[in-house]
Amino acid sequence: MKIISNIDELRDQLSGQLRTAFVPTMGNLHEGHLSLMRLARKHGDPVVASIFVNRLQFGPNEDFDKYPRTFQADVEKLEKEGVYVLFAPTEKDLYPEPQEFRVRPPDDLGNTLEGEFRPGFFTGVTTIVLKLFSCVQPRVSVFGKKDYQQLMIIRNMSRQFALPTEIIAAETWRAEDGLALSSRNMYLNDAQRAEAPALFQLLNHVAGEVRAGHLDIMGLEQSAMAHLAGRGWQPDYISVRRRMDLQSPTAADLAAGAPLVVLAAAKLGTTRLIDNLEI
Ligand code: PAF
Repeated sequence: MKIISNIDELRDQLSGQLRTAFVPTMGNLHEGHLSLMRLARKHGDPVVASIFVNRLQFGPNEDFDKYPRTFQADVEKLEKEGVYVLFAPTEKDLYPEPQEFRVRPPDDLGNTLEGEFRPGFFTGVTTIVLKLFSCVQPRVSVFGKKDYQQLMIIRNMSRQFALPTEIIAAETWRAEDGLALSSRNMYLNDAQRAEAPALFQLLNHVAGEVRAGHLDIMGLEQSAMAHLAGRGWQPDYISVRRRMDLQSPTAADLAAGAPLVVLAAAKLGTTRLIDNLEI
């Protein structure tokens, strides 16, 4: 595997490649990331991964400085997966001058759910993803459903800018007890790790209620939030949304059986976990 930090060198290395499959990451790779590499391999060749902890998508009180950086272990994992190039730029490589041009997602999609609790987050994500696409020029790129709203925003960005990159969705990789794998799980202590699967259990409960015809969605969301709070969590949201645009379903949507997804974000101690489940 070639490890490249410089944009010109990356372009030289990938010149003439028309079927590149790209997986952008912030490192601290776990089995969930590796499943993205395997899916990428099914959709293209060569597989290119990137590791870059993107300052632009962290708020002032978020964990940019303490975000886990495990570069050597990540390299070994990617080598085992047969990744052809790891693009691992420094901040100077990617932001040699202040990144003043930004890509701002539309308000209805970018300022709801995660966007409401993490102002500026999605602008940071779309800006770096567009820049990484410009460096790698992939034919396809794989994103996990774990970050459901991110996936949808990037898919819409790619479509609206007519980017030549098809966005592929990968299923969420879960531990045996249901907890969605995430780099942030490592912040959990033993008691919190034992409690953490309650989030996915609750999503299953809400999804089950909706499937069974429970139409008081707001009441369902409120009692789910109260349930989590009662177990010692600090929930930001548990929300049933339409899959097509992540807006709240209308009565007509519910009557017509529109495809839905339930999304949640909640803090356990100081660790913020997110998860979702398609209904
Ligand atoms: O999902 C992530 O790890 C990041 O948001 C991404 C897509 C690599 C952009 O920094």
